[in-house]
Amino acid sequence: MPTLRTALSAAALSTIAAASLAACSSSSDAPTPGESPLTFTQAIEPLVQEKCQSCHRAGGVAPFPLVTYEDVKGMGAISKLKVQSREMPPWGAFDDAACTVNHDFRDDLTLTDEQIDLFARWVDEGMPLGDPSKRPPARTFGATGLVDKTATYQLPAPYAVAPGKDDIRCFPIDPGFAEDTWIGGSNVVPGDPRVVHHVIVYVDPKQQGVEKAGDAGSYPCFGGPDVEEPSLLLAWAPGVPPTTYGDATGLKIPKGSHLVMQVHYHPSNETTTDQTSIELKELPYKPGYVAQVILAGNAERAEGFLKLLPGPNDPPSGPAFLIPPNAKGHTESMELTIPEKIGDITVPELGVYAVGAHMHWAGVDMKIEVERKAPSDAQPAKECLLGTPKYDFNWQRAYQYDAPLDQLPTVGPGDKVRFTCTYDNTMDNRHVARAVSELRMSSPPEIRLGETTLDEMCLGVLVTVRRANLLD
Ligand code: HEC
Repeated sequence: MPTLRTALSAAALSTIAAASLAACSSSSDAPTPGESPLTFTQAIEPLVQEKCQSCHRAGGVAPFPLVTYEDVKGMGAISKLKVQSREMPPWGAFDDAACTVNHDFRDDLTLTDEQIDLFARWVDEGMPLGDPSKRPPARTFGATGLVDKTATYQLPAPYAVAPGKDDIRCFPIDPGFAEDTWIGGSNVVPGDPRVVHHVIVYVDPKQQGVEKAGDAGSYPCFGGPDVEEPSLLLAWAPGVPPTTYGDATGLKIPKGSHLVMQVHYHPSNETTTDQTSIELKELPYKPGYVAQVILAGNAERAEGFLKLLPGPNDPPSGPAFLIPPNAKGHTESMELTIPEKIGDITVPELGVYAVGAHMHWAGVDMKIEVERKAPSDAQPAKECLLGTPKYDFNWQRAYQYDAPLDQLPTVGPGDKVRFTCTYDNTMDNRHVARAVSELRMSSPPEIRLGETTLDEMCLGVLVTVRRANLLD
């Protein structure tokens, strides 16, 4: 069975093969003068259907459609630039010399180098339409959202989003969970998709968000929800499909917990209101597998089971999380050794279902690698789980492996998980340049670990799955 990704790239390859065959055809069947072989109907329309229309269509999350020839031609020049810089489609994870991921990712939006080249050449050649009878059938999209949801929790009141700066706010929500609740799927529905840029939903077991929010109903929270013992339920960015674990796996929310919805507002030019909601599929039974989101990283010290490793620009006193002003390609790395036991409990082997990276504006790449204590044929001694050479704070998401539960990469007791974060703290980094100007500084400051705009983080997200046992 070909995987989704190989099937998709096989389809794309045949498009390219068809296009280049036409380009190299012998003189006997050469295109008549004025007729270009690289056309919208045959080469470009299938590509935008596959890689752009999940967002760029009527009712999609992107601000304009890329459906008709006129749509794509009208945005052709800028699309070429965005595609070449890999800003579009927004997908931060791909392989480079330092990291090859052994598994495909589900719903992978990446364009191959050949596809980028094809799109650019089509624009350069004047964006010819081609033979309308060769158009592929229109791509259709089914229902959006979490189709089998059992509950929806909306912000209690509309929140006013003013034009101007980015606004990152936390909204506590009481889902009224009287019992431990197992979540089999989750999704975010933005209230005003023009301004909601990404949403992270945390579990707040001690119900502390409510007090922080007070009468306002929300509080600013750039780095995280600022409550004790938070855990992560869901990370969402525009165009990311709902998270679903299947019927056998659930994520546990302890009874009485509140949720805290952290919303990143990217203001538009006008004042608007937003009332985003969360869709959940609450399982009516206890599933056989437990999903658990592990957030690991942000090490400050060179000791313990999560330790900061030596790196560039460390002071004489030893490893420090410190990014000097104007440093490019600066790395901070840290290593988590999975303990054999936590208290009396023997730590089980965990399947890694999905992975994600979290840094702030200066972050440009994060690698997550595992070094296994007990490798096997299926689980090599060293494996790169994620590389994000196109990391962008605005497009944070989790990347889900396209593999059945029993073929997921694993992390287990004694394994070492290494997080390597790369930062660009120069004015060449457009996010840093914008933050520096908003903070009325003249140049980038020294950056340390922290929660505010020009602090940094190096936090890996591992969505893990394991067999449920008596303790759950
Ligand atoms: C996952 C959703 C998604 C996919 C897939 C996607 N886009 Fe976008 N695109 C957006 C959103 C949302 C914006 C609005 C700008 C922003 O928020 O960054 C955007 C903006 C753009 C822009 C305008 C950028 C600007 O600065 O004005 C271009 C051009 C573009 N997309 C082209 C494409 C092309 C071409 C493809 C396919 C090859 C594609 N996009 C795939 C979501 C997507």
